[in-house]
Amino acid sequence: MKITGNTVLIAGGTSGIGLELALRFHQAGNKVIVAGRRREALDAIAAEHRGIETEQFDITDNASIRRLFETVTAKHPRLNALVAMAGIMRPEPVLDSGSLETAERTVETNLLGTIRLVHAFAPFLTDRPHAAILTVTSGLAYVPLAATPTYSATKAAVHSYTESLREQLRETSVQVIEIAPPLTRTRLMGEGTDNDRAMPLDEFASEVMGLLESEPEARQILVERVKRQRWAEVDGTYDEIFAMQSGRR
Ligand SMILES: NC(=O)c1ccc[n+]([C@@H]2O[C@H](COP(=O)([O-])OP(=O)(O)OC[C@H]3O[C@@H](n4cnc5c(N)ncnc54)[C@H](OP(=O)(O)O)[C@@H]3O)[C@@H](O)[C@H]2O)c1
Repeated sequence: MKITGNTVLIAGGTSGIGLELALRFHQAGNKVIVAGRRREALDAIAAEHRGIETEQFDITDNASIRRLFETVTAKHPRLNALVAMAGIMRPEPVLDSGSLETAERTVETNLLGTIRLVHAFAPFLTDRPHAAILTVTSGLAYVPLAATPTYSATKAAVHSYTESLREQLRETSVQVIEIAPPLTRTRLMGEGTDNDRAMPLDEFASEVMGLLESEPEARQILVERVKRQRWAEVDGTYDEIFAMQSGRR
């Protein structure tokens, strides 16, 4: 991917990884539009970072995604990159009846949301030079976290979807890139941002931007820390890592 001179929409950029990458793209000389649900977060981003545009949307609502598409392409006809970042991760004890709703919401947000975004934006992007669609999976796409079965499954599904999408768009101008973050210090699970086992957010964003620049044809963006999960099956370490993630080792 070209890392400067783009018009980039980060769908799910009001906090965490999306916001950090939005700032990095902005600094690198791209026009950046951040979309998310929280109005106050969007207003704070617009106030603090001159030049970054914001739009409100809800990825679980297809009409809202269609409105986002109409608004962003009308205001920014040079749009050439979409980052499908929005995601949720909640504990899902399957014997707890309440967790079915969590599971359904997770599919709607992480998987169906990504698919709906692609359907809304891909036809427009195929007419744009140097276009890119970036999806966001996880190390948990490759070795699941038993405490969040649906979350892990949605990320494995987005990985699979991304592979097919890339193949379908092979003859177009659209580059399809999967970002697979490791555990990173954000508030995704509602925790604080001081988890020692998690990668510091600024280090993660720097490594991602470095990889996008140094490997412009990359299909996957894999920071060093995620490689043990990404290649666990190949390395023969899957059972060990799965047990460790399940708290059994
Ligand atoms: N942090 C990690 O360890 C880690 C590891 C692997 C993958 N990831 C992935 O990275 C992505 C970003 O997560 P994060 O860690 O940066 O957590 P985060 O700070 O909670 O960010 C999640 C983003 O998704 C947006 N979002 C959630 N539901 C939405 C909805 N219904 N409509 C629109 N936007 C919605 C949130 O915006 P609003 O709240 O404003 O709606 C927020 O901007 C997710 O896809 C996550 O699965 C994270």
